Amino acid sequence: MKIFTTKKEIAQYFAHRDGKIVGFVPTLGALHQGHISLIKQAQQNSTEVICSIFVNPTQFTDPKDLEKYPRPIAADISMLEQIGCDVLFNPPVSEIYDDNEKWHLDIGDLEHLLEGKFRPGHYQGVTQVVYKLFSIVKPDVAFFGQKDYQQVLVISKMVELLNIPVKLVMCPTQRESDGLAMSSRNIHLTADDRQHALILSKTLSWVKNNFDASNIAAIKHQAELMIANEPGIELEYFEIVDGQSLHTANANTKNIVALVAARAGKTRLIDNMLIGLPIV
Ligand code: PAF
Repeated sequence: MKIFTTKKEIAQYFAHRDGKIVGFVPTLGALHQGHISLIKQAQQNSTEVICSIFVNPTQFTDPKDLEKYPRPIAADISMLEQIGCDVLFNPPVSEIYDDNEKWHLDIGDLEHLLEGKFRPGHYQGVTQVVYKLFSIVKPDVAFFGQKDYQQVLVISKMVELLNIPVKLVMCPTQRESDGLAMSSRNIHLTADDRQHALILSKTLSWVKNNFDASNIAAIKHQAELMIANEPGIELEYFEIVDGQSLHTANANTKNIVALVAARAGKTRLIDNMLIGLPIV
């Protein structure tokens, strides 16, 4: 696997594409099987796969969260080598950002709903870095995990607004055998937190299996109760929404998604389940 840390190296490497289909998997590192499944999807759908590892400071709303974000780069490199990833782009912050850079993209409601409410500014940071990474890598196809469902919507909105010539693919959430959604943050969970955190995927599955379009408010209420009754879990939101607008779903909504965010001990977790059809 080639490892590059500068834009120039990437530009040189991809100067002559010779009909290659470049698949891109941008990440914050601390790779797990969820990321590996994205790389595998990329391998099936492109001829050259590039992964980026960049802990993007502009998308962290809490400086302590940024500081404690895991950065096991040696283990990440060996996972990527094992899976046969072609290129890793692992730039320092100075390669991506100049001092005092300004960025704002009007992505409408998507910025302020759900995650946006709890992490103000987060999606501006995400669009800023993904725009930069897309401009450097110029991928034909980019792969994102469904676990960050709202992020996929935000990035597709950006691609549409800025006419970026890239196809986006949303890949299913990877789960541990007990249902816990894979996340780089799971390493912060204590054994007790981890056990309690299972209520999130259990509740989402319950909602999917018991879904009744004529009674969405009652289902949501029941889901909130299930999570509230679990010790060690602090619910931030549980919403059943239109999978495109993220506005509250009603009996006529076609693509319904249930999304949850909660703290398990000190660790903030998100998860979701598609009740209707995927949108990207
Ligand atoms: O989902 C992530 O890992 C990040 O938000 C992303 C898309 C790599 C941007 O930093």
